[in-house]
Amino acid sequence: MATFLSISASPQAISSTHAVLSHVNRRLLAAGHTVRTLPVRELPPGPLLAADSSDPEIAEAIEAVAGADALVVATPVYQAAYSGLLKVFLDVLPQFAFRGKSVLPIVTGGSPAHVLAVDYALRPILSALGAAHVGQGWFVPSSHIRVFADGGLVIDPSSLTPLAQVTDEFLDLVGARPAPTAPLPGRVDSAGGPRISAVAGHPDIEARRVIPGDPALAPLLSDLVIEYGTRYGRPSPNTQLTEVPTTDFLPPEGLFVVLVEGGVTVAGGAIRRYDEKTAEVKRVWTSHRHRRRGLARRVMAELEAAAAELGYLRVHLTTGPRQAEARDLYLASGYVPRFDQSADPETIGPLAFAKELVPGAGLPDWRHPTWAVQMDPDDRRQVHAAINGARR
Ligand SMILES: Cc1cc2nc3c(=O)[nH]c(=O)nc-3n(C[C@H](O)[C@H](O)[C@H](O)COP(=O)(O)O)c2cc1C
Repeated sequence: MATFLSISASPQAISSTHAVLSHVNRRLLAAGHTVRTLPVRELPPGPLLAADSSDPEIAEAIEAVAGADALVVATPVYQAAYSGLLKVFLDVLPQFAFRGKSVLPIVTGGSPAHVLAVDYALRPILSALGAAHVGQGWFVPSSHIRVFADGGLVIDPSSLTPLAQVTDEFLDLVGARPAPTAPLPGRVDSAGGPRISAVAGHPDIEARRVIPGDPALAPLLSDLVIEYGTRYGRPSPNTQLTEVPTTDFLPPEGLFVVLVEGGVTVAGGAIRRYDEKTAEVKRVWTSHRHRRRGLARRVMAELEAAAAELGYLRVHLTTGPRQAEARDLYLASGYVPRFDQSADPETIGPLAFAKELVPGAGLPDWRHPTWAVQMDPDDRRQVHAAINGARR
């Protein structure tokens, strides 16, 4: 595991740049690395401007750079270049302070005219300081960044996705990123045969029904922690959306569905019991590398089919007020909102939706997924028969 130093170079106390950097840090932490943040604005201004490396705090900052395996350098665009605050800090460093290190540049700015500030302004000085590799980097327009008073942050998906991608590529560059989940071994379904369930339109994607603890769930669960932590900051009723016991997702009352492509989990979601006749959808997720492929719609269809098979008659779900994409997905999937759509979502909290299931509708064009869990087929059939009999 590597030690990262994230240098935050905005002079502002409430900073868009710092917020974006905090999100990148979450991704680095989730990959198992040590991350230290250096907000340059908190260094003593006198010694900083005088380039006094004998000052204990300045000396400690220089030491932090020397001790890092890799760095993230985040700055706003000021006057068409990186911030002056970043320049005065870089000026106190030794000439080749970044020698042998990988550096990821992140820039926020107000004008699309300065999208290339990463390349024409920041990249040259990082190279001049000896960086072995300067990552792809990314410019996030300030119009794509919304910082909330509670520490929450919403980044527009059109910036969030590439930001996540350049962060992943940087982790690959540093060479310490865990390998993608290996293909799972063949499993036995309830009928005793091998389970293959192609997803229509995506012949290489397989839908699997799995239980908590399955390794295919790892990317989904860790990414949801990053998503909720970023969007809601401090713990709140919205972050509690993820805080339900994993045992809730065990058959016969719940399960996870994952879409797996080439051995890698690309999307997923879960259902659990809400009441005797109602399933609750939770944890719907699509990998940032696989957005805009219609996978979340497919996950919803798979979950609804599974809920019907488990004997539920309707589906209930909630999403947070800062998840506009999820809200759009549920509306497009035929869910009826149970809140005032004209109100500011921030004043509502978790947003509730519901949908009646059509008995026997299933997945018309697709083969049904089968269970990817090792269960005694007879036990499961008996349990489901009992549940179906009681509910219908
Ligand atoms: C003094 C000043 C100069 C700026 N100059 C530029 C500029 O030349 N080009 C640009 O795209 N944005 C410019 N901006 C906008 C900032 O880059 C943008 O709002 C950024 O997200 C602020 O980040 P911060 O909140 O971390 O300071 C400027 C902002 C300030 C305060």
